[in-house]
Amino acid sequence: MQIRPEAPGDHQAIRDVLDAAFPGEDVTLLVDLIRAADGFDPSLSLVADLDSRVIGHVLFSPMTLGGHTVLSLAPLGVHPDHHGKGVGTALTETGLAILADRDEPLVIVEGIPAYYPRFGFELASRYGIDKPSDHVPDEAFMVKWLGPVDDRYRGAVVYPQPFHDAGAIGP
Ligand SMILES: CC(C)(COP(=O)(O)OP(=O)(O)OC[C@H]1O[C@@H](n2cnc3c(N)ncnc32)[C@H](O)[C@@H]1OP(=O)(O)O)[C@@H](O)C(=O)NCCC(=O)NCCS
Repeated sequence: MQIRPEAPGDHQAIRDVLDAAFPGEDVTLLVDLIRAADGFDPSLSLVADLDSRVIGHVLFSPMTLGGHTVLSLAPLGVHPDHHGKGVGTALTETGLAILADRDEPLVIVEGIPAYYPRFGFELASRYGIDKPSDHVPDEAFMVKWLGPVDDRYRGAVVYPQPFHDAGAIGP
C-alpha cells in the first residue's frame, strides 16, 4: 500500500470510498466543496492506494483559529473492506508528518474520541480552543500540537463555508 497525494483521476474513487465509509452521510459533498474552495491544497488530500485502487482517504484543509489559518483533518475514511489493517493509521500519520515538515503549528480534528488520541490528539478545550458549535461534543473536538504549545492559537475555531454548506459541523 502506498500513501500518496490525490490525482485528478482519483476524485470518483475517493467519493466511492467515502460513500462506503460513511453510509447515509453526504461526506462526499464536503470534500467536493472543499476541493472547489480557496485554500485547497491537493498535496494535503492523501489517498491510500492498494494495487492502483483507492481504499482510503484523508483531507487536511484550512480554517481559522484566533485570526490565524490552521489546518483541520476532515474527513478520514477507509473502505469497510479494509478496516482494522492500519490504513487509517497510515493516512493519519503520513499527513501529520507532512504537516510537521511544513512547520504547521497544530491540527484540529472533530472526530471519534476513542480513535484520535493514539496520534497525540488532545481535548482542544484544554488549550482554550473552542469548538465551533454546541452541536459538537467536547470530547470530539481535539487538537494535535505539531510544535510547542502556542498561546496565540486560542479562541473559537471558525469553519469555512464548505463545512456549513455540507452540514458538516457536529454530528
Ligand atoms: C475510523 C477509521 C478511519 C479507522 O480506519 P482503520 O484503517 O480501520 O483503522 P486502523 O486499522 O488504522 O486502526 C485500527 C484501530 O482503530 C480502532 N478504531 C477503528 N474505528 C474506531 C472507532 N470508530 N472508534 C474507536 N476506535 C476505532 C480499532 O479498534 C483499532 O484499534 P487497535 O489498534 O487498538 O486494535 C475507519 O474505521 C473508518 O473509515 N470508519 C468510518 C468513517 C469514520 O468514522 N471516520 C472517522 C471520522 S472522525
